[in-house]
Amino acid sequence: MKIAISGKGGVGKTLLSAFLSHIFADSGYSVIAIDADPDANLASTLGFPEPGKITPISELSDLIEERVGVRPGTPGAFFKLNPKVDDLPESYSVKMDGIRLMSMGRIKRGGTGCYCPEGALLQALISHLLLQRDEVVILDMEAGIEHLSRGTTKAVDKLIIVVEPGRRSIETAQTISKLAKDLGLENVGVVGNKIRSEADNEFIKSSLHSIEILGFISYDPAINEADLANKPLFTASPQTAKAVRNIYDRLLSASRQPSMKS
Ligand SMILES: Nc1ncnc2c1ncn2[C@@H]1O[C@H](COP(=O)(O)OP(=O)(O)OP(=O)(O)O)[C@@H](O)[C@H]1O
Ligand SMILES: [Mg+2]
Repeated sequence: MKIAISGKGGVGKTLLSAFLSHIFADSGYSVIAIDADPDANLASTLGFPEPGKITPISELSDLIEERVGVRPGTPGAFFKLNPKVDDLPESYSVKMDGIRLMSMGRIKRGGTGCYCPEGALLQALISHLLLQRDEVVILDMEAGIEHLSRGTTKAVDKLIIVVEPGRRSIETAQTISKLAKDLGLENVGVVGNKIRSEADNEFIKSSLHSIEILGFISYDPAINEADLANKPLFTASPQTAKAVRNIYDRLLSASRQPSMKS
């Protein structure tokens, strides 16, 4: 199963990525969790020790030069568009509790996306992870879907857009859903997070009635407290774990339907 997670800043994309990773891993799946947000914090949310010591792939200039043929920052050079990447998930990741974590890092974008050595390597790596790996892959993205392409969307079982009860996150969700359609990605679902009342649920349902609702996660002060105390979030909030398990069940049952891709 390949899951991509997007949504407006601060809605809970990383929280959902981390809880889903733990639940898949606890259920016996091998999980590759990918931090594809330049402002990486999936490692600490997952509870990895010393998250600051994980070097993002985009900062590994020697590796990028070796694989793409050009050092990052070299202007106007030609580089390999299909670099070798199949060994990177094993070599450039950290592993804990059945979850292998990779951090993609920042690419300096110019104008229309990045035509640069680090961009070429990351693109090839994400294609490899989505198209060629057997593991469950969970991609924690930023508020867009730049990491996906026409070639990789067909491998994505679900693009989950996280929203919170508020107009801004709904507007972002609509934009992301349109971008997804344009890329040919139809398997889109919404998760409502930081829910405080039935009215919040209704607001999200009625604002996004054309997108499948995968589930809701209540606001839980225990998450905030664990965050401040630097404690692992997964064990801090049983109610969130339960809500995400329902979302997990729904993802799995959808993937088993004969009408969906296998
Ligand atoms: N259900 C919840 N209850 C309480 N706090 C929450 C909940 N979900 C997320 N938070 C808190 O909200 C903040 C943002 O969550 P998170 O980092 O997962 O969002 P994000 O969408 O990944 O943000 P960014 O766009 O910055 O990457 C965090 O401090 C997190 O602990
Ligand atoms: Mg995040």
